[in-house]
Amino acid sequence: YPKAFIFDLDGVITDTSEFHYLAWKKLADEIGIKIDREFNEKLKGISRMESLDLILALSPSNNNLSADEKERLASKKNEHYQELIQSINATNILPGIEVLLKEIRRNNIKIALGSASKNATEVLKQLGITEYFDFVVDASTVTKGKPDPETFTTAADRLHIPYEACVGVEDAKAGVEAINKAEMFSVGVGEIKHLGDAKYVVQDTSELVFEEIVKRYNDWNL
Ligand code: G6P
Ligand code: MG
Repeated sequence: YPKAFIFDLDGVITDTSEFHYLAWKKLADEIGIKIDREFNEKLKGISRMESLDLILALSPSNNNLSADEKERLASKKNEHYQELIQSINATNILPGIEVLLKEIRRNNIKIALGSASKNATEVLKQLGITEYFDFVVDASTVTKGKPDPETFTTAADRLHIPYEACVGVEDAKAGVEAINKAEMFSVGVGEIKHLGDAKYVVQDTSELVFEEIVKRYNDWNL
């Protein structure tokens, strides 16, 4: 059996990745840049400022914004985002997730969160699932975001679990890369064309079944 599960938040535990996308789209509209869902795949898992930089790079006229101006735009996106997540609650937990968390707990396996979001703690609170997590790694905990492995290795270190005994669950390409670099077992949730590097890919969270993940983990760990 694995000894710890480390979950990404947005797009794995909850449907907030859609709200991140809508907030970025609104900000991009305001500054005259078009983004779509395909482009949004690149924004998944990376920090707020890195996302802004990728969006600004789509339009040469925004090439030399001052640091202050970029801060202002990033804050504005966060205001849009916070407005969208204001009313989230347990109904925003993705299918299968709460059953999975319970099953992991029942088997005395540790659970951590590994998120790039500064809103992670607040989102967990609103969903009412804070108590499942033994440790929360968010944007304030690490210096190097995904695809660097630091998010996942920090969680494992704090739980005192060896990396090869950890399962990481991600919906972002950058996140899967981070898990693989940490030499943990990577589970991808979403389309295989984005998550092909994951050791095990499921299409959506309803397919995240404890026994199946453990079986795949054991095969990998032989
Ligand atoms: C996660 C999401 C990204 C988001 C990032 C920063 O990684 O997948 O879409 O941009 O967190 O979130 P924040 O709430 O700090 O702006
Ligand atoms: Mg995610």
